Amino acid sequence: MKRTTLIGAGVPRPDAIDKVRGEARYADDLAFPGMLHASLVRSPHPHARIVGIEAEAARSLSGVVAVLTATDVPGDNIVHVIVDDQPALAEGVVRYVGEPVVLVVAGTRAEARAAAAAVHVEYEVLPFVADPLAALEPGAPLVAVPSAAEGGNLFNRMVLDKGDADRAVADAVAVVEGVYETGYQEHAYLETQGAVAVPEELGALCVYGSMQCPFYVQNAVAKVLGLPLAKVRVVATATGGAFGGKEDVPSLIGSLAAIGAWATRRPVKLVLDRAEDVLTTSKRHPSVVRYKTAADADGRITGIDVDVVLNAGAYQTLSSAVLWRSLVTAAGPYRVPNVRVVARSVATNTVPNGAFRGFGSPQVIFPHESQMDLLAERLKIDRVEIRRRNVLHAGDCTSTDHCVASSVGVAETLDRAADLAHWPERLASIDAHNRSSSETRRGIGVACVLYGVGLGGKAPFLDKAGATMKLEPDGSVGVAIGTVEMGQGLTTAVLQVAAEGLGVPLDRVQLAPVDTSRVPDSGPTVASRGTMMSALAVLDAAAKLRERIENVAKAHKIPKREIADRLPEIAHHFWIENLDPAVEGFASTEPVSWDPATGLGDAYPVYAYATHIAEVEVDVRTGETRVIDYIAVHDSGRILNRALATGQVEGGVAQGIGFALMEGIGVRDGHLVVNGFTTYRIPTIRDVPLKPIVDFVEDLFPAGPFGMKGIGEVPLMAAHAAVARAVAHATGRRLTKYPLDPPRVRALLQEEA
Ligand code: MTE
Ligand code: MOS
Repeated sequence: MKRTTLIGAGVPRPDAIDKVRGEARYADDLAFPGMLHASLVRSPHPHARIVGIEAEAARSLSGVVAVLTATDVPGDNIVHVIVDDQPALAEGVVRYVGEPVVLVVAGTRAEARAAAAAVHVEYEVLPFVADPLAALEPGAPLVAVPSAAEGGNLFNRMVLDKGDADRAVADAVAVVEGVYETGYQEHAYLETQGAVAVPEELGALCVYGSMQCPFYVQNAVAKVLGLPLAKVRVVATATGGAFGGKEDVPSLIGSLAAIGAWATRRPVKLVLDRAEDVLTTSKRHPSVVRYKTAADADGRITGIDVDVVLNAGAYQTLSSAVLWRSLVTAAGPYRVPNVRVVARSVATNTVPNGAFRGFGSPQVIFPHESQMDLLAERLKIDRVEIRRRNVLHAGDCTSTDHCVASSVGVAETLDRAADLAHWPERLASIDAHNRSSSETRRGIGVACVLYGVGLGGKAPFLDKAGATMKLEPDGSVGVAIGTVEMGQGLTTAVLQVAAEGLGVPLDRVQLAPVDTSRVPDSGPTVASRGTMMSALAVLDAAAKLRERIENVAKAHKIPKREIADRLPEIAHHFWIENLDPAVEGFASTEPVSWDPATGLGDAYPVYAYATHIAEVEVDVRTGETRVIDYIAVHDSGRILNRALATGQVEGGVAQGIGFALMEGIGVRDGHLVVNGFTTYRIPTIRDVPLKPIVDFVEDLFPAGPFGMKGIGEVPLMAAHAAVARAVAHATGRRLTKYPLDPPRVRALLQEEA
């Protein structure tokens, strides 16, 4: 497709003004006549039997309209995500601290909270398990989720088996091994989870809320109310950040609000406060990952043998999808002929974990990039050079034996990042610094990543999207799509594509709020697929409408080059002549073939790549790490909007710095030790590099919109690893556990090298 002025341009976000003025309407800003407020009674125990619920005192409090338990759920008491194992309201047993047990609905939020505090639930405490490795031991307390393997706590076990990994290890010139652990990461979106359910005419219900996946919420709410899908409408309100945290959880929040609204026949709002949100909603899966990497004398990887364990928490939610990413990403962006990966997700009595930017891949990227550096050290090869010798090129096959013909720009990202960093000179200047300073030590780290865009072989049926487009009689164009703006810039990019596809100015095109009743199921806004897939659907619609516009123009002797300027006149002809001005667009990815038994096949329609280089300075006395310089080069195919793509990279780098250096949550007696943002530390402006260099290699994806292939999650994935490797370089220590916070780094520095 030809390149024109709109594609790639740093067009300003149309949603920015409302957001900075505080005028955007988030879930908690919505109000409806007669609206009630909901609050939850939650489990105080990691595992317990519910003996009795005493709600009379709560019912008699002022303002209380309903006190609802599992038996009041009109449809199935199930929050439908991937497998149906999680109740909307606990039934007979609670399996994690914070699990919803009773839903209280009252006139005001304060009344609802007071009434929730007055509900008395009697529990018989049961043995619990919070650690995933302990949960796999024989005789461990059983979380007893119906979806776990018989008699145990195993949720999912997946295998990737290619060639002969044992033989590769036995025959290798160099083998490096490590066990790596990562902890919780909280999404820390600015807007907490929230939804408003509103009964509508003709026996229908609408759920408004903060979410990534309106069609997931529609499905979940229909199930829980026992309604046909067509009676449930879901509208995604302005969403104040999500990062994967609003992929599965809104299905629970929306279902609870809907249960309240259906019971009371009035609009019901449920909004979590910050401490409640941090304690009770999904996070990044903590992991324990073992790696063996084998290589020949030139540093070419001959095999990997990997074991992944993820702590799934008390219900499966998205764990199988997250685990699948760990499995198929374990080899990174490298050619590896012999691969064995065994990946397990394990039930524990802790909050169910879910999606977080990167979906199970950061848990294997920290290890695979650490292993690359260990190999480099062992074989005395430069760290950039060893990556150069192993990265995939067009025509190579990934670890799953997916042979990728084009749009493989990883080598170019590596070369460009190394150039921008002046890698050899930088190594020398860092050496010089470290020789002259006894107070600080500097280090530089490099990390390369691959990321499969979309749902791919795990859920090919979700890789589709719809769009509608309507030419109004005045020449403006209304567009509707089914994926969500959550800060990543999708609205702007999709509008650019719509205007470009139609050949009309940007200000002619308006995007409608996402509403499941306007467009076909467009899959979830996840896996860095949202912008790409909706842009494809919009392009399909634009091509159809453009053809009709051209026909009308031709009939009225309007030359093609004048169409953009004379669109109002053309639109008027549509109206006067009773011509159909509305079209539908649809897009789906090429079918992928992937075999769950061997883990082999075309895992994804396409992969995005990146190389990041971070320079850090570690304070030897305090163990504190500062990121002092940063270079990020991405191949996400065509960049639709350079300013927004750069923003995605900078934001992802900040989140990656947080993951590597400071974020984490302890668990004591089955309780997460955290109380909102006072005890959960995330990076501030003082913790991020002030002048990161961000650059793009545009190795076009032929089936993408204008060659684009998704960028959203990739920056975080590369960033934490680059930072961790820089800390390893600075300290000269093996690093095996996140976060690399001051106490841990101080302790490492005190160890013998
Ligand atoms: N950027 C912002 N500002 N806010 C977000 O919530 N989510 C990330 C990423 N970037 C997120 C974000 C995640 S987890 C995904 S999957 C992608 O955006 C989704 O956007 P896309 O598919 O439209 O790129
Ligand atoms: Mo992003 S974790 O795929 O929502």
